[in-house]
Amino acid sequence: MLKTPEPADAAFREHVLAGLAAPIPAIPARWLYDHRGSELFVAITRLPAYYLARTETALLEGIRPEIAARVPAGGAVVEFGAGSATKTPMLLSAIRPAAYVPVDISGDYLEESAGEVDACFERIAVYPVVADFALPFDLPGEIAALPKLGFFPGSTIGNFVPRTATDLLRHFRELLGTGALLLIGMDRVKPVERLIAAYQDSQGTTAAFNLNLLDRINRELDGTVPLDAFRHEARWNDILSRIEMHLVATRDVEFTVEGQRFQFAQGSSIHTENSHKYGRRGARLLLLAGGWTPIGEWTDPAGDFVVVLAQAQPNRFAP
Ligand code: AVI
Repeated sequence: MLKTPEPADAAFREHVLAGLAAPIPAIPARWLYDHRGSELFVAITRLPAYYLARTETALLEGIRPEIAARVPAGGAVVEFGAGSATKTPMLLSAIRPAAYVPVDISGDYLEESAGEVDACFERIAVYPVVADFALPFDLPGEIAALPKLGFFPGSTIGNFVPRTATDLLRHFRELLGTGALLLIGMDRVKPVERLIAAYQDSQGTTAAFNLNLLDRINRELDGTVPLDAFRHEARWNDILSRIEMHLVATRDVEFTVEGQRFQFAQGSSIHTENSHKYGRRGARLLLLAGGWTPIGEWTDPAGDFVVVLAQAQPNRFAP
């Protein structure tokens, strides 16, 4: 059985205690994804207002022949994050790689998605890697000689601020090597009302996803946070081109986490996630800054979402 590494607990504690005490309180978004949070995220991807998942899936379905024409068969697909039950098989059946390497911090989810691919594609060797894909890790030796395609769907890159997104893309380049390809999904800038509707849905699913973080703090860190003293809020930050998720105090509130006392005044907030949205040129520039040259780009007819194929081209003398 694939095991999720334990030190995650220590990091959660450290991030929560430091984040709640920070001048602008914030907790890294990765902690939204415990078992319940991951279930709620799957529910979000099925919401009518959350256009991202279905738009990207339809896009990927439509461009399968074009991707197949540009990606050499018999290579290795390295997916950053556990595979999506619909997107991954669609890609694998289009390009027929020899190997599939899903990389995820959660051993459980990894095992599940790796098992599905194993069952459906008997000619593809599956090598799951339990790791935080944002930190250094090694690829399995078995794929060393194969041409590589990185797969990073879902607009997860949007959850990183541009500085760390650039670091991440450079890390992918280092890992996959010169000549490798990267297929990446990015969400586009669009009218604010649509963005807010996607991140503050009328069913309250995103609110439950965000508030689950407080519940997790209470469960895992002996917290006394009164959940009814916070509400979910999605805000558009125009200068930074991103949706922010916040937990806003609905009254003055005091609580403890592992014995440490925290106070929040009514209206103050804990910032829990960023979701950056890119314009055409911004998306290309981010990839270039990360060492990836865009060589193909596809959007849906409404221009809501973009899938970019990029290549880690050899460095050359720039003029
Ligand atoms: C995982 N990630 C790309 C999602 C997003 O859209 O930023 C997470 C999410 N947060 C709220 N809704 C969905």
